[in-house]
Amino acid sequence: MKKIVIALDGYSSCGKSTTAKLVAAELGYAYIDTGAMYRAVTLYFLKHHIALTNPREIKDALDKVEVEFHYNPKTARNEVFLNGLNVEDEIRKMYISNQVSEVSVVPEVRHAMVAQQQKMGRKRGVVMDGRDIGTAVFPDAEVKVFMTADVNTRAKRRQEELLEKKQLVNLDDIRENLQKRDHIDSTRKESPLRRAEDAHLLDTSHMTIDEQVDFVLEKVASKILRN
Ligand code: DC
Repeated sequence: MKKIVIALDGYSSCGKSTTAKLVAAELGYAYIDTGAMYRAVTLYFLKHHIALTNPREIKDALDKVEVEFHYNPKTARNEVFLNGLNVEDEIRKMYISNQVSEVSVVPEVRHAMVAQQQKMGRKRGVVMDGRDIGTAVFPDAEVKVFMTADVNTRAKRRQEELLEKKQLVNLDDIRENLQKRDHIDSTRKESPLRRAEDAHLLDTSHMTIDEQVDFVLEKVASKILRN
């Protein structure tokens, strides 16, 4: 069967990555968490004190950053590696969440990440989640879904995810972080977060994960059957 690109974009913590992972598993597609790539770059920049105002420094740093995904059979998930080191847990911490949107605004960072993502998806057969997949990375994606949810629901879900990783974070701090990131992500100049005209809108506020997955799979089925 013809392989396609599935783009899942939307606000922070509305279930994109959980949905994307399950859709990819169902179809035997690769899953690419593009937010993890921006998080890994943020970790590198923080570690090496890269000044976001210095384009030369940013360019040099980006030349030294290699982000890869490797499947870990023990955890049954794709984990993120930064220059050969597993940073899957580190990049999910709040200090990264608090900086990642500022790093993602930088045009040099976006150009480097978008180019890598296009390379990763060039053979198609991928589910990619992020903010600009359907608008900038793969504007020709066969299926595009734009996900959203009520901010309180998102904050609660994020808190539960962090708790599972033994990180105790106050609900107000999480909500504030989500709103701040949403604002920066949707108002930046370069490929801001916005719904592509041809993206299906999916409000997950009152939906189970299974319902979200079924929604995307239905769109995939009707697309593949129509072509
Ligand atoms: O999906 P996430 O919450 O892990 O993403 C972290 C940040 O990365 C998000 O606040 C904005 C940025 N991002 C982006 O600018 N473009 C993408 N395609 C994915 C994420």
